[in-house]
Amino acid sequence: MRFVATFIALVSCLVVSVSATTCKVTASGGDDAPAFLSAVQKCTQVTIDKDTTLNISTRLNMTGLNDRRIKLKGTIKFNPDIAYWAGNGFSFPFQTQITFWIFGGNNIRIDGGGTIDGSGQAWYDAFAANSSLLRPITLTVFQAQNVVIEDITMLNSPEWFNFVNEGKHVSYNNIRISATTSSVNRIANTDGWDVYRSDDVSITNSNINNGDDCVSFKPNATNIIVNNLVCNGSHGISVGSLGQFPGVFDIVENVTASNIRISNAQNGARIKAWAGPNVGSGIVKNIVFEHFIESNNDNPVIIDQCYMTNATACAQFPSNTFIQNVVFNDISGTSSGSTKSVVASLKCSPDGRCEDVTVSNFNLTPPAIYAPAAYACQNVNLTGNAAGLFGTCTTT
Ligand SMILES: *[C@@H]1O[C@H](CO)[C@@H](O)[C@H](O)[C@H]1NC(C)=O
Ligand SMILES: *[C@@H]1O[C@H](CO)[C@@H](O)[C@H](O)[C@H]1NC(C)=O
Ligand SMILES: *[C@@H]1O[C@H](CO)[C@@H](O)[C@H](O)[C@H]1NC(C)=O
Ligand SMILES: *[C@@H]1O[C@H](CO)[C@@H](O)[C@H](O)[C@H]1NC(C)=O
Ligand SMILES: *[C@@H]1O[C@H](CO)[C@@H](O)[C@H](O)[C@H]1NC(C)=O
Ligand SMILES: *[C@@H]1O[C@H](CO)[C@@H](O)[C@H](O)[C@H]1NC(C)=O
Ligand SMILES: *[C@@H]1O[C@H](CO)[C@@H](O)[C@H](O)[C@H]1NC(C)=O
Ligand SMILES: *[C@@H]1O[C@H](CO)[C@@H](O)[C@H](O)[C@H]1NC(C)=O
Repeated sequence: MRFVATFIALVSCLVVSVSATTCKVTASGGDDAPAFLSAVQKCTQVTIDKDTTLNISTRLNMTGLNDRRIKLKGTIKFNPDIAYWAGNGFSFPFQTQITFWIFGGNNIRIDGGGTIDGSGQAWYDAFAANSSLLRPITLTVFQAQNVVIEDITMLNSPEWFNFVNEGKHVSYNNIRISATTSSVNRIANTDGWDVYRSDDVSITNSNINNGDDCVSFKPNATNIIVNNLVCNGSHGISVGSLGQFPGVFDIVENVTASNIRISNAQNGARIKAWAGPNVGSGIVKNIVFEHFIESNNDNPVIIDQCYMTNATACAQFPSNTFIQNVVFNDISGTSSGSTKSVVASLKCSPDGRCEDVTVSNFNLTPPAIYAPAAYACQNVNLTGNAAGLFGTCTTT
């Protein structure tokens, strides 16, 4: 757990280094992006007052910053000019994403108790009419080191709320996330966080109400701590999906997710990796999911190493993404009954591609009509005091 100590040392050093010139950005009545960008270039601290709402109508390139703090007490609201953003969001090849805002550099911080509003409703409605519409991620921490994002509310992102892309030593603490829709249209793909090609990331003490992964560990997320989250309505705390793209090797290593209350979700604790012909490869190693309190979740505990692949194809073309040393400990609560009696499903590709999976202290129940609970597994040798619940897991 060496990386925990490093992280704590880092936070105190950041607090000391934030000082010097302070600027305030006020609302102009039009696009406030140019003034906001120039303030962040010039001043070490940029304040947005409590009664200020900045109208951001053009993209925010805040990369290469050094020693900067955005003290957000008011609101940053992205103007939902769909035609503009679909053509001008910063784009990333990974999963063909675009974003409103790239925030990068060294020793950078956003805090202050204010709000970042993605104006998602217009996007949710437009996406329902055009499923190929590119929708912006609200905040992308990009090529950044020593980042703190703290005490912020994030509302109605058009797509993912937070993307950590090529970051190191990045900490999110006390973040309130909420996506809601006032129409019949879904809040699709509103992940709380996606961590990609990043090392030493922590996400703590936060509340998330959204419509896709609460937190997702994408390729090359390493040394991650997720602690004390309340997630509602999400797709869970998810490793993956991994091993999707031919020729690409994905690593997810050293992830601990603990003290998670998760409700009304598609999944609780999840690992998913592709199998089948023409996919990629990778390794998922040293993953701990512990102290989960679940309520009404479809799959409270799930490993799916045949993701998007039927049983025949998975047996013929097992996953090239290997899974090693996974712990599920102290997992309690209820399933939704959508998988009837099954409260935990650990299904691996054949030939020892999942190793060292430990299950302990399970107390999961399905709705009364499906009692007693059932446990599904394949191609994995389980250890731990809940292993007996699963029986033998050798066959497919
Ligand atoms: C934000 O600025 C844009 C560009 O000037 C303008 O079209 C839009 O009406 C403004 N929105 C608000 C809420 O002021
Ligand atoms: C952002 O601005 C920096 C500095 O001006 C520039 O080098 C970089 O190419 C810009 N990034 C994008 C994605 O436009
Ligand atoms: C749907 O969105 C895509 C991607 O942003 C865009 O190229 C296309 O023109 C849109 N289609 C319609 C009918 O608006
Ligand atoms: C939690 O999620 C469910 C299902 O998406 C939703 O109906 C409910 O309103 C959410 N609860 C809160 C407190 O936001
Ligand atoms: C992940 O890291 C490994 C080792 O550095 C590298 O070979 C691989 O290309 C990386 N994968 C991605 C998706 O960046
Ligand atoms: C994972 O943690 C172990 C034990 O602390 C460490 O030796 C290893 O280098 C870490 N892996 C990565 C990719 O940082
Ligand atoms: C399983 O997937 C393979 C490969 O994608 C496909 O050819 C086959 O028809 C599928 N079989 C069933 C039973 O769905
Ligand atoms: C489970 O353990 C047995 C005995 O050590 C071994 O033969 C078998 O290959 C293992 N199965 C898997 C899926 O790892």
